[in-house]
Amino acid sequence: MNILLTGGTGYIGSHVAAALISTGHEVVCFDNLANSDAVVIDRLEAITGTAIPLVVGDIRDGDALRHALTEHGVEAVIHFAGLKAVGESVAQPIKYYDNNVRGTLSLVEAMADCGVKTLVFSSSATVYGEPRYLPLDESHPTSATNPYGRTKLMIEEMLTDIAAADPDWRIATLRYFNPVGAHDSGLIGENPNGIPNNLMPFISRVAAGRLAELSVFGNDYDTPDGTGVRDYIHIVDLADGHVAALDTIVKIEPALSTWNLGTGQGYSVLDMVEAFERVNSVRVPYRVAPRRDGDVASCYASPERAARELGWTAQRDLEAMCASSWSFERTLAMRNSD
Ligand code: NAD
Ligand code: WQD
Repeated sequence: MNILLTGGTGYIGSHVAAALISTGHEVVCFDNLANSDAVVIDRLEAITGTAIPLVVGDIRDGDALRHALTEHGVEAVIHFAGLKAVGESVAQPIKYYDNNVRGTLSLVEAMADCGVKTLVFSSSATVYGEPRYLPLDESHPTSATNPYGRTKLMIEEMLTDIAAADPDWRIATLRYFNPVGAHDSGLIGENPNGIPNNLMPFISRVAAGRLAELSVFGNDYDTPDGTGVRDYIHIVDLADGHVAALDTIVKIEPALSTWNLGTGQGYSVLDMVEAFERVNSVRVPYRVAPRRDGDVASCYASPERAARELGWTAQRDLEAMCASSWSFERTLAMRNSD
């Protein structure tokens, strides 16, 4: 298929582009470069040996979307474009509703206008709110604890209504757990601007000496070692999950399906530090700091529906996640010293 990736030069979008091309699909990236760099396209072309068109545009610009959809003969869209910083969403909710909710509305309008009705959407485990039971399956009640999470919930609800009104749509809502790691090539990975909010890029930068120490946010949770437990999933596995979802929705009956993309395995913050040090033979100094507002003790997926319906399960272990994160950090350091 010919697939448009909104947010295609971002962390997840770029890995999905590589996975799609390796399975015979063609991709067009559509991104306003608010949180990524066009150089990602050069790296993707080096990885895949394929020319990849980049449309620099904003998803709130319906004309730009309609033009890209028709000019490139697009048959399906994977929608990654969005803002994702929880703290920023609390401080600047209008920016988040505008970019994420209005942006998605503009996208589905343009798709409907162009008769493109196959869509995979990047949702998040954040839509489960405070877990009432674990592991989290797709039937767990949804709620939001911050504006970012509320944008994901609103978009899920909007897509549900669209699918109910028009059975020609084929929509997959993918609820990601905690994507980490990088492509085997070391050419693409997660490189957030400023100080990272997320654990794995923070650990990498401490190990590289770019940050002094990790603050472990709380060690008095009701977990085996007192630190927060999450379901970390290798980005290459997550990317393969998108290929499986896209290949599945075009063959099945329901207009909308929802799948968790996680491993089902929880690791604590200290498990992550220990594994990163062991696998990469580096030191990650840390100190225990107060809990971070809004954090839950434990969050991990039931990946069973995806295994059953998509024939997909995560293959890569914690060691592979730590090794690829470090390898990407080192290629970044080499490039910066050029
Ligand atoms: P990212 O910031 O690396 O990628 C998002 C891309 O979207 C960026 O390249 C950015 O420039 C682009 N973008 C943002 N607003 C845009 C707009 N209005 N028009 C066009 N392009 C725009 O983030 P990511 O980690 O790759 O996340 C991709 C998606 O997955 C997001 O929707 C995010 O909410 C969701 N998600 C991410 C995680 C995670 O931990 N990384 C977890 C769950 C869900
Ligand atoms: C993981 C664990 C922290 C940083 C967030 C979003 C969620 C989703 C994924 C998009 C927690 C601890 C972290 C640090 C630490 N994104 N930690 N020191 O909070 O599970 O999820 O990213 O949808 O919506 O909320 O991921 O990587 O921030 O934290 O101790 O410097 O690491 O307390 O236990 P989280 P995270």
